[in-house]
Amino acid sequence: MKVLVLCGGESAERIVSLASGDSVALWLAEAGHDVWKYDPEAAGKYFRADETMAPEAIGTAAPAPVAHGEYSPQTVRGLMDAFDRIRPDVVFPILHGGRGEDGTLQSLLDWVGLPYTGPGALACALAMNKHHARLVFEAEDVPITKGFVVPYEKMMDASFVREKIQKTVGFPAVIKPLNGGSTVGLTKVFSANEVAPALTAVSVLGDQALVEAHFEGREIAATVVAGAAYPLVEIKPKEGFYDYTNKYTSGRTDYICPAEISPDVTRRIQESAVTAFRSLGCAGFSRVDFLLGMKGDFVCLELNTLPGMTKNSLVPKAARARGEQPPELMQKIIECALSGIQRAG
Ligand SMILES: Nc1ncnc2c1ncn2[C@@H]1O[C@H](COP(=O)(O)OP(=O)(O)O)[C@@H](O)[C@H]1O
Ligand SMILES: [Mg+2]
Repeated sequence: MKVLVLCGGESAERIVSLASGDSVALWLAEAGHDVWKYDPEAAGKYFRADETMAPEAIGTAAPAPVAHGEYSPQTVRGLMDAFDRIRPDVVFPILHGGRGEDGTLQSLLDWVGLPYTGPGALACALAMNKHHARLVFEAEDVPITKGFVVPYEKMMDASFVREKIQKTVGFPAVIKPLNGGSTVGLTKVFSANEVAPALTAVSVLGDQALVEAHFEGREIAATVVAGAAYPLVEIKPKEGFYDYTNKYTSGRTDYICPAEISPDVTRRIQESAVTAFRSLGCAGFSRVDFLLGMKGDFVCLELNTLPGMTKNSLVPKAARARGEQPPELMQKIIECALSGIQRAG
């Protein structure tokens, strides 16, 4: 089968996406597919599975935030050219963040009628907006932290936000972009005077912020593939929390898979992950991130519709823990895309 892997893109997670694209392409080739890779930001260039696109290291600090500009007609034309030239049987988008993961690209693929892997346009759009995802999760009894949105017109009004935090979620709180990723632009605020800089950090990336109660807990990632929960992964940063540096610097974080959690709590988290997946109308695969408290209580932080797929990423780790090698995982994901399962969007 001819598969076109889309990676790179314009978001702050571009480099990670190139690394994901490289891994996915090699695994797809191993599974017997004829693979091409394409970066929407590098129109006209096509890569085979064994041609590396990612730089050697992902980098230990978050890249400068990329403002969401308009997708130029050239970018769209480049994509259309790629579809025309490669004539893929199926497209495998593994763009993290930005228009590759927010449903825009998925809508284009729907429009041109190409089958593609992973969640559809509506699921991607809902998941990318953490506020909307939280509304759906709440309605479906997926536990979340208390929180509120800072609307555009209040982004410069730190005293309003300070007061609202004091009245609602309390300190410490977490201030993050509504559509963030890789912990870019996220700040833990422990006192009132940290609110203004945290809002500034968000406003570089977007025009609204999400404020959440700080939840003290272990980081747990739940992979869902074809509607089924995979073994949980616990993420244990050696210092601090799971920020960009701890995510992408080798040796800074331990990953325990399957996570050492009681069977009962494991089952409850996995059920919530599947509910989160279904409630947003996801298809193929997704990763749902949780925090697990001391007493077995947990909250869902977000659902990632196009999670990291590098050789060190969490989803391939979860697959290996159930005895499934990454090429097999890729094959399953491709089959989901071709099975005609109706997407919600
Ligand atoms: N409400 C919260 N309480 C405690 N830690 C949080 C909270 N929200 C986020 N974090 C920390 O920040 C990390 C990134 O947050 P997340 O909402 O998943 O954003 P991103 O989309 O950037 O991954 C989490 O993995 C966790 O370590
Ligand atoms: Mg996350």
